[in-house]
Amino acid sequence: MRMKEGKLVLVGAGMVGSATLNAILAQSVVSEIVVIDANEDKALGEVLDALHTTSFAYSTNTTIRVGSYADCADASIIVMTAGPSIQAGDNDRRVLAEKNIAVMDAVMAEITRYTRSAVLIVVTNPVDLVTYFAQTKYNYPADKIFGTGTLLDTARMRQLIAAQCNVDSKNVHGYLLGEHGESAFIPWSMVNVAGIPVDELPRAFGLSAALDKEKILADTKAAGLRVLKLKGFTSSGIAQSVARLVRAIVLNERCVLPVSCVLQGEYDLEQVAMSVPCVIGANGRERVLEVTLLPEEQDQLAACCESLQKMLLQLGL
Ligand code: LAC
Repeated sequence: MRMKEGKLVLVGAGMVGSATLNAILAQSVVSEIVVIDANEDKALGEVLDALHTTSFAYSTNTTIRVGSYADCADASIIVMTAGPSIQAGDNDRRVLAEKNIAVMDAVMAEITRYTRSAVLIVVTNPVDLVTYFAQTKYNYPADKIFGTGTLLDTARMRQLIAAQCNVDSKNVHGYLLGEHGESAFIPWSMVNVAGIPVDELPRAFGLSAALDKEKILADTKAAGLRVLKLKGFTSSGIAQSVARLVRAIVLNERCVLPVSCVLQGEYDLEQVAMSVPCVIGANGRERVLEVTLLPEEQDQLAACCESLQKMLLQLGL
């Protein structure tokens, strides 16, 4: 079936799904949003609530409705948010991984009945493991499936550095790479503010001390858990991350964003999904960018890979 430009299917109408629905709607780049949830009342409630916002919208009149997996047949983008979120105090990520891989298994079985050409954005955590499972078990085209990965972590890192320099976070460049989780790292050789390398920031911005790199990494990785403990879940940051990816795809921006994707030899790594900078455009992951890393940064990326592969092994994947 011919793909319908601008048709997006959102799987999951929970807290993340709801925030994601409204964040995508606000981008005004899709023509139709179809919401699927096992709880049909919840799906309808989120659709109606979102519809009530459209008369305030400054843009196109997006169709929003409850649908079924059959709507994936001509969808150009599918967003997967279904499954339980991590809970404060969850120490065994393996339990969440087992639960959500089972959820993803059921969802992928339905999606692949109708399409293998839609760009599939995975949000469900642990996102690296869920993305790897979905792509490998269902042999979904590797350039058409990726997870939000460290896109949100990167935004959090940029916001922390921007706050220290009292500058717009859009002028902070650099990434948090690898796992959306504990083994993530920041290749500091790539971080700059308006082209100014990290070690020159005190001079350029009149800082009293050099950036505390360890603290920035630790605070970035702890940011999600901090929000979770305060409000019970995270939603706004991840929703805007998805909306950013949707805009890049629909507008064929070919922008560079860190997303979790299955590596097939890039960075001399394979049999893992984790976040590296990728060119995102109409075809999804247009290109995996092999950025220049210092030897110790390449080692950190390899360590991330090893940590994720160990988790995959424990899950029997
Ligand atoms: C967070 C969730 C999306 O980091 O993992 O907020």
